[in-house]
Amino acid sequence: MTVTKMIEPVNTDLAAKDRAAIAAGLGKYLVSTYELLLTTQLVHWNLKGDLFYPIHKLTDEHYSALFETVDLLAERMRALGSFVPANGPTREFTVSARVTGKDIAAMVEELAKMNEDGARAARELAGKADDADDIVTSDMLVDCIKFHEKAIWMLRATNG
Ligand SMILES: [Fe+2]
Repeated sequence: MTVTKMIEPVNTDLAAKDRAAIAAGLGKYLVSTYELLLTTQLVHWNLKGDLFYPIHKLTDEHYSALFETVDLLAERMRALGSFVPANGPTREFTVSARVTGKDIAAMVEELAKMNEDGARAARELAGKADDADDIVTSDMLVDCIKFHEKAIWMLRATNG
């Protein structure tokens, strides 16, 4: 089946091939956002050390925001006429290897790096959405970039 055949008809002046490409990009970003969410929760639960409480609170804020984001991403895929593939959020995650057995500073730095990855992915996809005149997806991704950039700052600030 070609990509455009998997797209439902939606007559809003966005080409089916553009909607399919943007939805596919959103699907990939959704998976990496889930990975960041679960890694953030692992840090939240397994932290030990002097900075336990502030980082426990900060990671709580972050995974709560990311949980809302994955829903927005999936619903935007549906609004573009795409289904959310079952092999997306359920593929094997690589969360534990990133943070298990590391000290608190290394765990926090790993989260900051994953947020950098997220910011770059969201920025690239926002550019593609802009090129296709999909300003709604682009606008949504601007919020994602804002989240990642603020998270990077706050996480690294705890490391001094
Ligand atoms: Fe909690």
